[in-house]
Amino acid sequence: MKKFLSILLCLLMVMSCASVVAEGQKVGVSMPTKDLQRWNQDGENMKNLLEEAGYEVDLQFASNDVQQQLNQVTNMINSGCQVVVISAIEGSSLGSALDLAKEKGVKVIAYDRLLMQSDAVDYYATFDNYKVGTVQGTYIKEKLDLDNAEGPFALEITAGDPGDNNALYFYSGAMDVLKPYIDAGKLVVKSGQIEFNDVATPTWKTEVAQNRATTVLANYADGSNIDAWLCSNDSTALGVINALEDNYDGEWPIITGQDCDKSNVKKMIEGKQSMSVFKDTRTLAAQVVKMVGQILSGAEVDVNDTTTYDNGVKVVPSFLCEPVFGSADNYMELLIDSGYYTLEDIQ
Ligand code: BGC
Repeated sequence: MKKFLSILLCLLMVMSCASVVAEGQKVGVSMPTKDLQRWNQDGENMKNLLEEAGYEVDLQFASNDVQQQLNQVTNMINSGCQVVVISAIEGSSLGSALDLAKEKGVKVIAYDRLLMQSDAVDYYATFDNYKVGTVQGTYIKEKLDLDNAEGPFALEITAGDPGDNNALYFYSGAMDVLKPYIDAGKLVVKSGQIEFNDVATPTWKTEVAQNRATTVLANYADGSNIDAWLCSNDSTALGVINALEDNYDGEWPIITGQDCDKSNVKKMIEGKQSMSVFKDTRTLAAQVVKMVGQILSGAEVDVNDTTTYDNGVKVVPSFLCEPVFGSADNYMELLIDSGYYTLEDIQ
């Protein structure tokens, strides 16, 4: 009996300790928009995992409106969040909220997108953004067999939002692979639009990418083929696919993407998109929840990169998760067997 009571006492102590860890601790999660699939997933994953760990969560989406995000983050800080996790619409626009966080001792984690020009950013958790671009560029290089085939091949490029620091990393990772072939004349960009600012897609919107792609396609109205279209992510790839469907009669090009969004997995199965890069948002969310726990318990915070992500004021200690190649050949294993999507999601 005595033994039973002491075990019970221990159990109760462990249970109360577990709830003490997160009791009364509030975490703010600020996501850029509900318009794109991934941020809904990221937001929900974060909320669920944080709540499971016992935190109170204030999750907000900002409709791609910078002022709205600024207000939401400011409210989170003023309403007692001890940590705010932010995926910014525009990396440099949250300065005053970040200053307030610093003043009040609230810790800031930049989520997926780096927060720029502020010393109040404590940590950054993301996928290896440069590597995402490398995977895309290498895919095009290998599919066209650029080292051996005679060419020349026609390439067009669609990049991401200039306000999102990630966009330049994706572009650079891919262009570091492809640019030497452009310079050598083996890849020809008929539109002449190669520089990041010429190929960028403000807000990452499908319609914006589609409009530019439609203009670019005027260069192929003579019936010539496009061999590859480098697209930095899935929402822009979708715009390019729409534009091609409406304005192009040549052979279907290689098209890259990123995120393995449901609509794009469908396009891969249909043969309209060649590849995507899978960034398992469950992994990122779990990592960030771990970091929150470490911050709040005063433990050492897990990072694996302390040199790459300079936000203009400081190099932000970062944790980089691994992006994974995805295509019609491995989506079953990658997305369905792993429980990320159900079959109905992508049918
Ligand atoms: C993310 C990408 C996403 C893009 C548009 C980037 O910051 O890293 O995964 O496709 O934003 O939402």
